[in-house]
Amino acid sequence: MSFRIQPAPPARPNRCQLFGPGSRPAIFEKMAGSDADVINLDLEDSVAPDDKPQSRDNIVQAIGGIDWGRKLLSVRINGLDTPWWYRDVVDLLEKAGERLDQIMIPKVGCAADIYAVDALVTAVERATGRQKPIGFEVIIESAAGIAHVEEIAAASPRLTAMSLGAADFAASMGMATTGIGGTQENYYMLHDGAKHWADPWHWAQAAIVAACRTHGVLPVDGPFGDFGDDEGFRAQARRSATLGMVGKWAIHPRQVALANEVFTPSDAAVAEAREILAAMQEAKAKGEGATVYKGRLVDIASIKQAEGIVRQAEMIAG
Ligand code: COA
Ligand code: MG
Repeated sequence: MSFRIQPAPPARPNRCQLFGPGSRPAIFEKMAGSDADVINLDLEDSVAPDDKPQSRDNIVQAIGGIDWGRKLLSVRINGLDTPWWYRDVVDLLEKAGERLDQIMIPKVGCAADIYAVDALVTAVERATGRQKPIGFEVIIESAAGIAHVEEIAAASPRLTAMSLGAADFAASMGMATTGIGGTQENYYMLHDGAKHWADPWHWAQAAIVAACRTHGVLPVDGPFGDFGDDEGFRAQARRSATLGMVGKWAIHPRQVALANEVFTPSDAAVAEAREILAAMQEAKAKGEGATVYKGRLVDIASIKQAEGIVRQAEMIAG
């Protein structure tokens, strides 16, 4: 046990991050009208190299020109291993205005990557007199990223969220799959001749959650590529929520409602959490630190678990 108190992550709903290519401005209004908590306009891998300059212009226009309501507005810049990223940062910071909340840095490999972007962003903010500091979010999607996940989570006070990017992660790790998230055909245990599928993303997700919770950052599950498979998306999202992640990306609008459903605590879960809190209140009045609720032990740790669920539900409702 540490004497340090675990920092709270930003108190904002982050159940769904809806992505759209910066080269496809026709869908920006539809994204703004969606039920996603976060919008991610993309300059990186959904945009072809020749389309980067036009996509920057599209995004700069759209940030000021479209009513994004109360959504968190984020733009994914290109990776630090490309010739495009510095221009992404400078154009966004100089031209896009105060409505831009955050930039997403992909393929982060170490804390110095964040430091480099932070230095550039800080200089442009000072030069332009920007009032509201830009937030950062990052994607862990390489062997280096997961190896250095904790120093990355601690790298900048600007950092609010961290996602797992399954496809690039699988490629970097040399994993034998072309799937983007979800169950992998060859990742199974045999028991009595029957196959039981395990979760190859589990350890990376758990490492991200631990790093994020240590440093007050929101852990988020990335894309699920098969957007026709609602049950596959739900299953992946439920596993992520069980491990402590707060939301998931949508790469197609039909995934938004699925993410919101999974990452909003259900009425039944909230009601049970409140009952546990009431049971513990009664126990406390009797001078007891533990009691029995529906035949199982609840104790002081149960209060923290239940409060987490109630707090999440209240924050989303607010
Ligand atoms: N956000 C909002 N609306 C979207 C959308 C998105 N990301 N993608 C598609 N739509 C709209 C379409 O314009 C269409 O609208 P309409 O009914 O008014 O005509 C409707 O949703 C259905 O679209 P559909 O025909 O099923 O999809 P598509 O073939 O147009 O596009 C993708 C499919 C996957 C190419 C597209 O969804 C996409 O670009 N997704 C994001 C990719 C991305 O950003 N990747 C980077 C992160 S991994
Ligand atoms: Mg990627």
